[in-house]
Amino acid sequence: MSLNVEVLEQSFEKIKPHADKFAASFYENLFQAHPEVKPLFTKTDMKKQETMLLKALVLVVENLRNPEALSPVLNALGARHVGYGAIPKYYEPVGKALLITFEQYLAEDWTPEIKQAWLDAYGVITTLMLKGAGQKSE
Ligand code: HEM
Repeated sequence: MSLNVEVLEQSFEKIKPHADKFAASFYENLFQAHPEVKPLFTKTDMKKQETMLLKALVLVVENLRNPEALSPVLNALGARHVGYGAIPKYYEPVGKALLITFEQYLAEDWTPEIKQAWLDAYGVITTLMLKGAGQKSE
């Protein structure tokens, strides 16, 4: 799988000025479409969580050209997610919420190419996280 790094970087640059709102909207979209994941976050400080999610996304995008660095970080992140109750079937709803949020914020700049690039990237992220969690993605 070769990722469309340029498209990922360019589209993420457009999100950066609205990063805080983007992260808040992501969780709104996720909880609206999938209220069943809400209980996982009952003890969570959502403001902090939004910052951490963004940091993780920035790290991923900044290291797309350096995938060897990304694997151990995402394996470890996936392993920690077992303790958060993030079972494999929740990865798809999270990916969908992420795409919907990108579409909202990129608006007229949203294209099928960008959508495909993020679908591929999220697939790679999920595979690496679930590998770290000791589970397969199916
Ligand atoms: C692209 C995939 C994902 C990324 C980049 C991501 C990122 C993060 C990060 C950076 C943290 C902070 C704690 C840590 O670093 O260990 C975190 C915590 C958490 N994530 Fe994720 N996550 C992803 C997928 C998911 C999925 C699929 C779920 C399931 C619903 C989930 C649920 C949670 C929960 C419940 C916490 C803990 C909140 C707390 O500390 O109370 N995450 N996530």
